[in-house]
Amino acid sequence: MIANNVLMNAVRIHGFGGPEQLVYEPAPRPRPKRGEVLIRVHAAGVNPVDWKTRQGEGVAGYIHGTGAILGWDVSGTVAALGPGTDAFRIGDEVFGMLRFPHPGSAYAEYATAPVTQIALKPKSLDHVHAAAVPLPALTAWQALFTVAGLKAGQRILIHGAAGGVGHLAVQLAKWKGAQVVGTTSARNAAFLRSLGAESFDYTAAPFEKNLSGFDVVFDTVGGDAAERSFPILRKGGILVSILDKGNEVLAHKFGVRSVSMRVKTDGNGLAEIAGLIDAGALRPTVETVLALNEVRRAHELSQGGRVRGKIVLRVAGGEHAQ
Ligand SMILES: NC(=O)c1ccc[n+]([C@@H]2O[C@H](COP(=O)([O-])OP(=O)(O)OC[C@H]3O[C@@H](n4cnc5c(N)ncnc54)[C@H](OP(=O)(O)O)[C@@H]3O)[C@@H](O)[C@H]2O)c1
Repeated sequence: MIANNVLMNAVRIHGFGGPEQLVYEPAPRPRPKRGEVLIRVHAAGVNPVDWKTRQGEGVAGYIHGTGAILGWDVSGTVAALGPGTDAFRIGDEVFGMLRFPHPGSAYAEYATAPVTQIALKPKSLDHVHAAAVPLPALTAWQALFTVAGLKAGQRILIHGAAGGVGHLAVQLAKWKGAQVVGTTSARNAAFLRSLGAESFDYTAAPFEKNLSGFDVVFDTVGGDAAERSFPILRKGGILVSILDKGNEVLAHKFGVRSVSMRVKTDGNGLAEIAGLIDAGALRPTVETVLALNEVRRAHELSQGGRVRGKIVLRVAGGEHAQ
């Protein structure tokens, strides 16, 4: 039994605002409840929703009181089982997206996780790369397959193709047998080609004047990208946005569907994604690895909007970890 007064190192926020709100400090180690495991966190993925929430946007409405621990994506080892929990064993290496949109508390040496929201870590990835996967891969999977119903032979345009969600969406669409075009700056054109997709440099020319005939557009950028994408969809096509509300007026005008979605936790989905990773069909790119106590820098980099692939925090065993 793990006592309540045992401490761990964590990154907490005591108010909303800039990166200075992120405080690396001792915090009580959580205890797993029924249907949960305790994970010794080895790495935590950083997503834009982390800094949006830190600023009081994103999913900040789900944070109540002070001392919340941010972060949703983890990879680590099962350290304890909650009462009656037998889906995993102590020592299992697992990864997951925890409790989203409620606080996930992944920026810590230990985190509890409902067993339905984790899966065995892909064997072919270390913890840093595994922590890069859950939220962006589930987002891409749900957008492409659950919402858009992407099929082999269809043409898809992915806005923000070099980002955390985008670079995994490109690979999932390729795996499905789709023809993939992605928007990137020139800096990321070769990266995108290495993933098997055609790249369009959105800084050089307006994409809507140069591209056409898509069955699916997946928008991970926001702003006016969605609105400008309606004319390049085929009749009966679909625009999926993870940033903006659907636009029924334009959808009707162009004879397409316009759908907005928010990612859902899904341990079974992660198990399927882990299988694809181990089969060599999907590989996360991690551009930057920082220590947990360098989280402010991680947020600044993510907020800069130029990350290729992912930023991951390595969670080393600190003074309180055992
Ligand atoms: N609704 C949901 O469930 C959900 C889930 C996940 C993410 N999101 C949101 O979706 C957005 C993307 O997430 P992410 O993790 O992929 O972000 P990210 O990793 O920070 O995206 C960075 C990438 O965006 C590219 N980019 C920036 N401006 C662009 C533009 N105008 N056109 C094309 N590419 C552009 C950059 O490439 P270049 O340097 O080449 O421009 C960079 O590689 C975030 O706002 C996030 O909060 C929503």
